[in-house]
Amino acid sequence: MLAIMPTVTLTLPQGAYDIVIEPGCLEQLGPRLREVAPHAAAAIVTDEAIEYTYGLTAARSMKDADYSTTIAIMPQGETAKTLGTYRDLQEVMLNARLERGSPIVALGGGITGDVAGFVAATYLRGVPFVQCPTTLLAMVDASVGGKTGVNVPQGKNLIGAFHQPQLVLIDTDTLQSLPPRELRAGLAECVKHGVIRDEALFEWTVANAPRLLALESDAMVELVRRNVEIKAAVVMADEKEAGERAHLNYGHTFAHAIEAATEYKVFKHGEAVSLGMMAAAKCAVDGRLCDPSVLERVQTALEALDLPVRAELPPPIELVDAMSLDKKVRGGTIRLVLPEAIGRVGIYGDVPYRAIIDAWDVLRPG
Ligand code: GLY
Repeated sequence: MLAIMPTVTLTLPQGAYDIVIEPGCLEQLGPRLREVAPHAAAAIVTDEAIEYTYGLTAARSMKDADYSTTIAIMPQGETAKTLGTYRDLQEVMLNARLERGSPIVALGGGITGDVAGFVAATYLRGVPFVQCPTTLLAMVDASVGGKTGVNVPQGKNLIGAFHQPQLVLIDTDTLQSLPPRELRAGLAECVKHGVIRDEALFEWTVANAPRLLALESDAMVELVRRNVEIKAAVVMADEKEAGERAHLNYGHTFAHAIEAATEYKVFKHGEAVSLGMMAAAKCAVDGRLCDPSVLERVQTALEALDLPVRAELPPPIELVDAMSLDKKVRGGTIRLVLPEAIGRVGIYGDVPYRAIIDAWDVLRPG
């Protein structure tokens, strides 16, 4: 029997785009790009780690579809997500004389997608953009929804733009080469989606943890589809984060503080989000916003996926300081996304300072 591969469509007032989820679909990049952004020339932005693997597959497919393709390689890692990399990439586009209709394709993880997307948002005041994510985190979160940008010394993602892609092409086969730590980091965002919107997905993720950690192809397609559906629904309801898109930040205010206080050197973003979801759940339980079983279930899920639930961290007082620098702070108040049940969250701007300090305790090893 032929499996029907899922496509999720994200519709916004300015237009709609497809998110195609299919093992091996990177080989169809050229013809699919022709459908959404036909032009003589295009660019692929990728990183040095996958230039000779998926980069070659993507470039071949684009050549077969008659694109003259410029390949721009950026360094790997969070430290490359800078205005310097952005400027270097713009230089490549200018030197290649890419035009208004020339699409830019991001091939790689969330960092590549964010920087390439910001280049696409601003080069010639905006050119078509396509996302080909190769990490789980990029597939279920970063590649969907049009957030692009770079980090600056003052904080993460503080310079950027909303620029929706024309197409997201998710080849789940690329997950097979993902290092286990990266896989788990992506799974943290999947747990997050379950907590904020979908108890059944939360339960499914826990029950299927061994299949997911073993990268079973069918399980990965289902995982990505269900998570992309949630991400797309949230973005459709609130593209520019005026309200409910902020729910996607569950665990993230704590996580950003952990990352900043440890200078981005100790934890992957997803690992920090795992810890952050624990602290936010503790805060919600202490504030009687939810039943204590919510914290227990979050912990059980994270442990089933080999994600951290305790860690040696700087003193809470330092972490709360770092929380107040987060860009989600409004009028000096820390706004937290806290669970009310598994599948439902709320935004709280009135959590007492003492309660936030105490929430960090749940992460203390011991
Ligand atoms: N990653 C959070 C968002 O896209 O809004």
